[in-house]
Amino acid sequence: MYYSEDVIEEVRQQNDIVSVVSGYVKLQRRGSNYFGLCPFHNEKSPSFSVSPGKQMYYCFGCGAGGGVFQFIMEYENYTFPEAVRFLADRVGISLPEEEYSEEAKRARDLKSSVLEINKMAAKFYYYQLRAPQGKRGMDYLRNRGLSDETMKHFGLGYAGQDGSALYRYLKKEGVSDTILKDSGLMQVNERQGMYDKFWNRVIFPIMDINHRVIGFGGRVMGDGKPKYLNSPETVVFDKSRNLYGLNFARVSKEKTLLVCEGYMDVISMHQAGFTNAVASLGTALTSRHASILKRYTDEVILTYDSDEAGVKAALRAIPLLKEAGVSTRVLHMDPYKDPDEFIKALGTEEFRKRIDQAENSFLFELSVMEKSYDMKDPDGKTRFFQAVAGKIAGLELEIERENYIEAVTGRYQISYEGMRRMVLNHLMQGVPTRQAPRPLERRVEKEDGMLKSQRLLLTWLTEYPELYPIVSVYVHPEDFTDELYCEVASMLYDQFEKNELNPARIINHFTEPEQQRTVAQIFNTEVPVDTVREREKAIADTIRRVKKNAVEAKSAKLDPTDIQGLQDLIRAQKGLEDLSKLHISLQQGQNKRDIKSR
Ligand code: UTP
Ligand code: MN
Repeated sequence: MYYSEDVIEEVRQQNDIVSVVSGYVKLQRRGSNYFGLCPFHNEKSPSFSVSPGKQMYYCFGCGAGGGVFQFIMEYENYTFPEAVRFLADRVGISLPEEEYSEEAKRARDLKSSVLEINKMAAKFYYYQLRAPQGKRGMDYLRNRGLSDETMKHFGLGYAGQDGSALYRYLKKEGVSDTILKDSGLMQVNERQGMYDKFWNRVIFPIMDINHRVIGFGGRVMGDGKPKYLNSPETVVFDKSRNLYGLNFARVSKEKTLLVCEGYMDVISMHQAGFTNAVASLGTALTSRHASILKRYTDEVILTYDSDEAGVKAALRAIPLLKEAGVSTRVLHMDPYKDPDEFIKALGTEEFRKRIDQAENSFLFELSVMEKSYDMKDPDGKTRFFQAVAGKIAGLELEIERENYIEAVTGRYQISYEGMRRMVLNHLMQGVPTRQAPRPLERRVEKEDGMLKSQRLLLTWLTEYPELYPIVSVYVHPEDFTDELYCEVASMLYDQFEKNELNPARIINHFTEPEQQRTVAQIFNTEVPVDTVREREKAIADTIRRVKKNAVEAKSAKLDPTDIQGLQDLIRAQKGLEDLSKLHISLQQGQNKRDIKSR
């Protein structure tokens, strides 16, 4: 499980980040970097950059960043060792055999252990369903029209009457109570100790896109409550980023994805041949879900329940999907409640027709709006049209607005001119369509300017290694005021001294994702300067600012009785004066002369 730094470095070097990321994101070259749409947040114009020189990626929009391992971890939801194995496989490096020393066992990633236990539990439930004691579950599922093949495909299972069968099984297999607690498969109470969370239910394993079991849902076989019981969030189960059925739907040939509410809907649709169906499992669709959907499709068809809750859920999902760059249509299920019931009642062909007829999401929103106005009353009707015009005015593109004015006139018996004028009126009043900046952007804006200068300096050092001889005269690693920055700087300086500049390697020294992101950020800071002259000036300014900050920070902390410290400080302040004359030249070999002439 633990690979030596040399092995990791070998894997990293053979996996060029541009070619790895290209497998997931469409990249275009711009200057020395590549840009594309960030796969980790919703955006319409590319702020995701990949630097072949630094072998790093960084998103200027959401701050995601790292090296090739971090990209795979984030994208595929892998642990670090999994990412190493994945990338080693990709280039045909064979890794040393896993070590199972006592220590390695103990240190083994909790995430992998929970996944392992989930797999064991899924197998256990699977066999229970097919054994004689699983008859009740089998009868229930058959009754609901599922074929054996479908049950197998989705790995359906059964938890029997015995409320600690799984517990006993896992204990026999040597699983410890501590890990069981983290797995989400057990309940604990003082009187009974640990016992199974799921019993007397049919079981739906929930898989991630790599078919790994990350959680379970269990349904009562009848009318009991709660109807479905689901795994709690665990180290491997994050409801806001997983979609049931996506492991199959992602390879379906359809251009769209069908998004529904529940387990049975997904399974029924897949059984009927609509293998592009996924579900957000009862929880509301999140923007995280939306950006995941965007990785696979540009259009989603919502197949939510036809009841009020389903309509509400659709109204919430539409703007999130739009924000993610996914367009939405809404499928009408009436007179049936959900896809499962519809397909059972009217069959595949009728369902396909409904897919073809699915309503444009904007018009769907209008028809929902319409219900809250009294259309028989002239005033009610006016207010409705005002609201429609307001909504159309909120659209970004003129062509979009025109098309919807046309669609609305076709639908609601109002003249094109009349609607157009109302829309114009709204536009003239200035529609508040601009959204407030995201919290992250606000945070970045307010962020400490001092750290920004320090990041800039480190970025520039990696971009113009010829700056090192001069920068290192003035700025030392301990001048970086943040602990992490200081650590990064001293590793970078070390690489310069050994003539082995390799910033991507520095990332792998840090284990926390938060730290890795910060390191990526440190090496990917950008300033909007165009000409070489401007850049030279900006670099000199930055060196001065960082040094001045460092001196000020030092003097604030100085103990007045510390004579040596005082002398150092006076020298440093003197150095600052020298720095005011600093001139940087980005032509090679020039900077050394500058040092002599300072
Ligand atoms: P529904 O109540 O619409 O159930 O909940 P369903 O999918 O039609 O299920 P069947 O056909 O009665 O078996 C939709 C989804 O909401 C979640 C489940 O993911 C379910 O599939 N849910 C519902 C729960 O998590 N818990 C509940 O008690 C009910
Ligand atoms: Mn149903």
